[in-house]
Amino acid sequence: MRKAIIFPLAILLVASLATVAFSYVSRVTEESSIGQSDARTCGQCHNMEMSLWVTHAHSRALLVPGKDRNFYGASYSSSTPGYKKFVKGKFTKDDVKYAYGSLEIQILWTKTDRGHELLPASWDIGKKRWEKLSPLLKKLRASGVTLEKNCIGCHVTGYDPETDTYTAPGITCVACHTDYEKHLVTDGQETAGVAVDKDPAYRAKLCGRCHAHGTDRKTSLDFPSGTSSEQLAQFVMATPQPGKTTADFWPDGTERAPYMEYQGFIQSGHLQADLSCTTCHLPHGSDDERNLKRRTDSACDGCHNQIDELPVHNNHPGKATCVDCHMARISDSVIAKGIYSHTHTFKFLEPENAVKWQMPDSCTTSRCHTSQDDSWAVEILKGWRGQ
Ligand code: HEC
Ligand code: HEC
Ligand code: HEC
Ligand code: HEC
Ligand code: HEC
Ligand code: HEC
Ligand code: HEC
Repeated sequence: MRKAIIFPLAILLVASLATVAFSYVSRVTEESSIGQSDARTCGQCHNMEMSLWVTHAHSRALLVPGKDRNFYGASYSSSTPGYKKFVKGKFTKDDVKYAYGSLEIQILWTKTDRGHELLPASWDIGKKRWEKLSPLLKKLRASGVTLEKNCIGCHVTGYDPETDTYTAPGITCVACHTDYEKHLVTDGQETAGVAVDKDPAYRAKLCGRCHAHGTDRKTSLDFPSGTSSEQLAQFVMATPQPGKTTADFWPDGTERAPYMEYQGFIQSGHLQADLSCTTCHLPHGSDDERNLKRRTDSACDGCHNQIDELPVHNNHPGKATCVDCHMARISDSVIAKGIYSHTHTFKFLEPENAVKWQMPDSCTTSRCHTSQDDSWAVEILKGWRGQ
């Protein structure tokens, strides 16, 4: 009986989601030419991947306004919370030429003679209100970052700095399935190039072209150009400097800035153990907000069924999750309040290092012991470790 009710409801939900999502796709691409690199070309035959992809933030990484500039409800009415304080008299919706962000916050770009620069307020999608830029975004704006020089490469497909063009907004199919031409003319018979290499390290690197910090040797920009493997080879990733705090890393090698999961991951034993990003994340999308195959502890189950009988493991039954301790929030790097990046080194971040280097640790920077200080955690651990 219960099943009979849930089933048609589920179909309805999926159907309505699909309609919203598809109408959205045409809106993003409205002002750009639809070429062979467009996801819809591939979607004609690969319906399933297409319908997942439209749910992924990848499909919306650059928002190009069409006639309706109010993406995700950004409201310019004077009764909207924060409007009078942060928007009124500073900019209007006509100033918005592009936007980033469809998950938590949205930042807006306006055209200037230097390219596209950040506008001084951001839209909180969940709380439906205007806010001032977070300290990190404020710093970026003050330093004069432009979309073209600093930010566009990873939020579109196939950016070419020489001509200042991209082949499609967002991360479309061909950002990952690169050499697609032959596949199209043979109606899918020739898959060389589109098929993703089975080597897990290669698969992770595919994600690392955007989920990493570095500099392109040829263009000196902060992102790789184009989509080809030769262009990718020009991109030199930043590396940690042991004992030093750099813009990108803490002294123990933990990532310090957001969107550098690849540089954390390659430090972990998981790389040698042949895991890849897609061991845990679905590449096309899912109903999980981080596109995880499985959540919290079950993300690690199956492989770590029997974790070591450590006191720190035993003293936290059912309270802390594996992610709390092994994927701590790297707090210094928040794009905005409440948005966290989690270390992908899977290391337990030692409170001792937090005392020594003023960096985050797994106990007091996590969601758990926020009211305690680092030395409290050091003492507790000493007791548990019998030191
Ligand atoms: C005319 C139909 C058609 C179009 C258009 C098409 N494909 Fe395919 N594709 C196929 C067929 C048929 C196969 C082989 C059967 C299968 O694996 O589903 C395939 C297989 C694939 C595979 C799996 C290859 C493997 O060996 O595992 C990938 C990846 C892929 N296509 C990506 C793309 C991308 C990216 C695009 C757009 C640039 C695209 N396809 C456009 C028909 C098409
Ligand atoms: C090297 C690639 C790369 C570059 C360059 C880059 N980004 Fe991103 N950006 C990402 C990735 C990857 C994510 C999402 C991953 C995450 O959550 O860690 C992201 C997410 C974001 C988000 C959050 C969006 C949301 O939905 O909540 C904002 C805002 C953002 N970037 C702004 C910027 C700005 C501003 C710049 C230029 C200063 C920039 N990005 C340059 C790769 C990049
Ligand atoms: C962010 C990178 C990325 C994007 C974007 C992407 N794919 Fe994939 N795709 C992959 C990876 C990686 C695999 C290999 C499967 C795995 O590792 O789970 C894959 C596998 C596939 C396959 C083989 C069958 C399967 O699902 O395993 C097809 C077909 C495919 N993708 C089509 C598409 C189409 C069509 C789009 C655009 C709508 C697309 N992909 C966008 C990374 C991507
Ligand atoms: C061409 C650049 C690019 C590539 C390649 C890429 N990403 Fe992303 N990824 C982004 C950007 C940009 C965002 C943030 C989009 C936004 O929030 O607007 C993002 C967001 C994400 C998110 C967060 C989504 C969410 O819902 O919070 C995950 C997870 C992710 N990517 C995983 C992957 C994986 C796994 C791969 C490789 C299979 C990959 N990405 C390849 C640029 C890229
Ligand atoms: C597909 C299997 C698999 C999954 C899923 C997995 N691991 Fe692992 N993990 C391994 C293997 C294999 C090793 C290396 C051998 C070992 O040390 O046990 C490893 C090693 C580790 C280590 C030791 C440190 C290191 O870098 O070598 C930690 C800590 C760890 N994993 C935590 C996690 C956490 C937390 C999760 C969930 C978010 C997780 N693992 C998910 C297979 C997995
Ligand atoms: C309360 C924090 C905490 C939780 C929760 C936690 N761990 Fe750990 N884990 C640690 C600490 C601390 C160490 C390092 C032990 C040491 O050196 O004292 C460790 C060590 C490990 C190791 C061995 C690492 C090595 O270097 O050999 C693995 C594997 C591991 N944990 C996996 C997991 C998995 C999987 C879960 C979830 C089921 C989990 N842990 C939950 C704190 C935690
Ligand atoms: C062993 C499992 C595992 C692997 C491997 C893994 N991730 Fe994650 N990832 C997670 C989990 C779990 C979270 C969610 C943390 C949370 O929100 O609680 C996450 C979160 C993310 C996010 C959202 C931002 C953040 O830090 O919370 C992005 C983006 C991401 N992963 C990208 C990647 C990329 C790219 C790779 C490969 C270089 C990768 N992940 C490898 C488990 C994994």
